[in-house]
Amino acid sequence: MDVSRGIDVLPFWLAGRPATGDSELTVTNSHDGRVVGVASVPTEDQVEQAVAAAHAVRKQAAALPVHVRAEALAHVSRRLAERSEEIARLITAENGKPIFWARGEVGRAVSTFRFAAEEARRFSGGVQRLDTEPAAQGRLAYVTRVPYGPVLAITPFNFPLNLVAHKVAPSIAVGAPIIVKPAPATPLSSLLLGEILAETDLPEGMFSVLPVPNDRAGALVEDPRLPVISFTGSGPVGFAIADRVPRKHVTLELGGNAAAVVLADADLDWAASRIALFSNYQAGQSCIAVQRVIVEDAIADAFTDKLLEAVGSLVTGDPDDDKTQVGPLVSEDAAIRVESWVGEAVAAGARILAGGTRDGATFAPTVLAGVPADAKVVCEEVFGPVMVIQRAASVDEAFAAVNDSKYGLQAGVFTRSLEAAFKANRELEVGGVIVGDVPSYRADQMPYGGVKESGVGREGLHSAMEDLTYEKVMVLTGLSL
Ligand code: SIN
Repeated sequence: MDVSRGIDVLPFWLAGRPATGDSELTVTNSHDGRVVGVASVPTEDQVEQAVAAAHAVRKQAAALPVHVRAEALAHVSRRLAERSEEIARLITAENGKPIFWARGEVGRAVSTFRFAAEEARRFSGGVQRLDTEPAAQGRLAYVTRVPYGPVLAITPFNFPLNLVAHKVAPSIAVGAPIIVKPAPATPLSSLLLGEILAETDLPEGMFSVLPVPNDRAGALVEDPRLPVISFTGSGPVGFAIADRVPRKHVTLELGGNAAAVVLADADLDWAASRIALFSNYQAGQSCIAVQRVIVEDAIADAFTDKLLEAVGSLVTGDPDDDKTQVGPLVSEDAAIRVESWVGEAVAAGARILAGGTRDGATFAPTVLAGVPADAKVVCEEVFGPVMVIQRAASVDEAFAAVNDSKYGLQAGVFTRSLEAAFKANRELEVGGVIVGDVPSYRADQMPYGGVKESGVGREGLHSAMEDLTYEKVMVLTGLSL
């Protein structure tokens, strides 16, 4: 699609083939309001066809030779790389994230599919001798992993390509059909991914991309032919899904109020530059963007000066400009919500050290201090370019502050001390501890997910492949071992 014209109606992907429905979804750019694309929306009947096709192909999909799955995944990786600039422009157009970050996202998706191709070839079962006990003499267990079945993927707007890749790639790798329901604000990248998937030899029904509105997702969630739901998004929606279908296998990648701890022995310049950037990247719209900055008292004043200088040097503006680091939020409504949370904090006594202003969908990189612990900007997920500085008298107090949260996705700890690093790993109640960097660090091949209200289950290719499958044991008897 030529996004500069923004007039083509994009088909959706029904069981691997392009199709059009009887209504449309218009996608706009939050920076300037222009229409960047129009997606066709499937009818109820077309959704039914997609689900039926996924169900029908499930056994063939599970039996698909690994080299076929791996080659399809490698093809997607190569094609994403070949079309990377076009796709990055599309992400920027539909999401508003600066082109610098959009290019990074495409690069990550190239890797995500490549890792899945590699992991598909490695992902094998094993054998277990059972003759450890006299009663099991002559017996051997052959253990394989079997997909639960077709996956319903409900994906968010903040990484419209790579967080879709994190569901599609492992599903194909394990031989599970997948239906993607992309975020209504950003369906275009996943439709383009559908176009690339359609170039492969995957069987009909192996994938569908259905940009249905949120109020029609309930029927998909409840459909018994889709036994697995992989959801990334907000906690209330995620837990409502899990409560609605308690017998399904549900993976939830939810929110956070990620903390970066700066201990007295840290490299303060490095910590300040990383925290400034990763509180504000993608306008703070990442579940692991730095929201709480917990600083040891001894260096708090010196560090705050450096942090404010680093925040002040961020380039905010037009997301299509190569130099822009901070762009708009996904919509003006989202920016208005962030503005109201900052206003509430200030009314409760917080001081604005930087930012605090809004221009349309863009909210200025904001640093707050003296914020009451029960303010939303501390204890809820802001999902905007706002950070809160908190002081701690000791390492113990700093780690207790990290844990004083209903969330637990990732935490960053800036320190040079190996002892402090291991203490952090022991004590912090999160899915990932990043030592020497921000909580926002994610390598796509590593396990990723949260504890507490940040979610259930893990993504990252190998972890997701385990999550989408169950162990099956065949016991052989009467053997001479
Ligand atoms: C997220 O927002 O949970 C994803 C972060 C990432 O993939 O970097």
